[in-house]
Amino acid sequence: MAALLPRAKDFGLALPAPPTRPQRPSASTAFRGSFGLRCFALPAVASFLTSLRSQSRRRFSAPRRAVNTDAEYKIDLEGLVSLCKRRGFVFPSGEIYGGYNGFFDYGPLGAELKNNLKRMWWRKMVHCRDDVIGLDSSIVTTPSVHQASGHVDNFSDPMVDCTESKKRFRADQLMWAKVELEDGTSAGYVSMVEDGNVEVALKKAAKKLIKQKKIEGGFKELEIKDMTDATEEEVKLIPSPATGLPGSLTGARAFNLMFETYVGPYSDGASKSYLRPETAQGIFVNFKTVTYVMRQKIPFGIAQIGKAFRNEITPRQFLFRSREFEQMEIEYFIDPEADFKAIQEEWIMEMWNFLKAVGLKESLLDREVHEGEKLAHYARACTDIVFTYPFGTQELLGVAARGEYDLQQHAQASGESLEYQVPGQKRKFVPHVIEPSCGVDRLFLALLCSAYDEDEIDGEKRSLLRFHPCVAPITCAIFPLLKNKPPLVEKAKGLAAMLRSSGFNVLYDEAGTIGKRYRRMDEVGTPFCCTIDFDTLEDDTVTIRRRDDPLKVERKKREDIGAFLMKECQLPEQ
Ligand code: GAP
Repeated sequence: MAALLPRAKDFGLALPAPPTRPQRPSASTAFRGSFGLRCFALPAVASFLTSLRSQSRRRFSAPRRAVNTDAEYKIDLEGLVSLCKRRGFVFPSGEIYGGYNGFFDYGPLGAELKNNLKRMWWRKMVHCRDDVIGLDSSIVTTPSVHQASGHVDNFSDPMVDCTESKKRFRADQLMWAKVELEDGTSAGYVSMVEDGNVEVALKKAAKKLIKQKKIEGGFKELEIKDMTDATEEEVKLIPSPATGLPGSLTGARAFNLMFETYVGPYSDGASKSYLRPETAQGIFVNFKTVTYVMRQKIPFGIAQIGKAFRNEITPRQFLFRSREFEQMEIEYFIDPEADFKAIQEEWIMEMWNFLKAVGLKESLLDREVHEGEKLAHYARACTDIVFTYPFGTQELLGVAARGEYDLQQHAQASGESLEYQVPGQKRKFVPHVIEPSCGVDRLFLALLCSAYDEDEIDGEKRSLLRFHPCVAPITCAIFPLLKNKPPLVEKAKGLAAMLRSSGFNVLYDEAGTIGKRYRRMDEVGTPFCCTIDFDTLEDDTVTIRRRDDPLKVERKKREDIGAFLMKECQLPEQ
């Protein structure tokens, strides 16, 4: 049995540390480039390194996030990974071949949960608003799109290689420090891949180094830097985390994160294209057509849900940073003269309320505002909504005010005017954009973290997932009290069929005691269970047991169950 249980490394998972370390801003926020993405211009190696160093310093001295005291998780990331596999939520991709780092398969219940999340987002952002319409653009498109948007030249992360182990590290995640003795001499260098409490881990490594070298006395406080901040001389002296020895690391170099592909029968430069790294560009290049065919008036938004791909150097923390993921994005087009800050604030609140409505604990949410140097050059403002995961507080989604950058770039490169003609006026302009952008997989992970709970019912321990009914993979389970009593089985199957035809995902289960059946449903987050018993045969009522209030069982008319579930599954209004 143990062999069947997933191990953390099956998921490319760096084991988490408890959330004690105040977090620095995540790399993806720190390196937001011209598209709200990590991005560097690479005019020359020297200026590249200078830019890396200045970015690095900025990030390390950025204000520290407060530790969230409410985030006392009953499960750590490794436990969640294991739970996801055991209960059919997420599996490593290609597991029978040993898995594939940075890629995941959503199991039967994971697929339901993820689809429900996307459906709820679409409902709230598109169907419930009259100023947002939807789009589904292609994943692969003409490379001209990514050339114009700047991704081909600039969408990169800094990386360093270990020539000995052939391992590759993200430069901004490879942390190091010089171990300087009290008398000013150097005892050497220590390094590690950032994960959890860097200060404590490097201090421990420094103590070990001093002990190995049989040096008496202490060392000065460590000045921790990352590899984007190492000089050529220092690079030679810093040990590789893979071998523990210096001399095998290279300096920081840019690594483009886009996956390349070839379209058509030839694999040459002319047929090269890319898997999109964000869904946003598909919206920008369709702006003119959508505005025209749908007769849209500014302000209005175009929403899209779809896959994005990034060849992350170090995918980690399970679904948090993967190489294939989904985004839910809106490009909301506004008049350049409009009060963009007010509109951005409305979108931040819209996203915040959505996160709450689908069941994230508000105490685990926070905002992080990007200011001054941290803003991308095009951006007028950017605020992330961050979530406290078991491994620390990290970006869940971003709401950026992107100005007119993307539309201008595409207008220039394509030769098509992307100006908006104000109806009934002579005035024309290139709209500015507010962009709420949320990763589905990050939200999925946050939801699992928020929902996991353990309690005791009648002295018996249970573990459960407290999903809101609107996203729960199974809305209701239907049980006949006894499987060997045909009238009960028939009624139960009839109720399941009736609810299915009303659009609910229900599960019929007749195996084991009722108590065991309840536990199985608690474990996968099913909010309601209906049992057909002998009273049902008399008065056509069934028992309803709520996952979150299991001792209070009610009876309802069988024909009213559909309406009851419908009401419970409504997205809460804010
Ligand atoms: N169009 C803007 C954009 O793509 P981003 O901050 O790079 O901005 C937006 O990405 C969101 O996509 C993030 O807030 C995160 O939720 C998700 N995301 C980005 N990279 C990811 C990755 N490697 N794995 C999972 N989700 C990711």
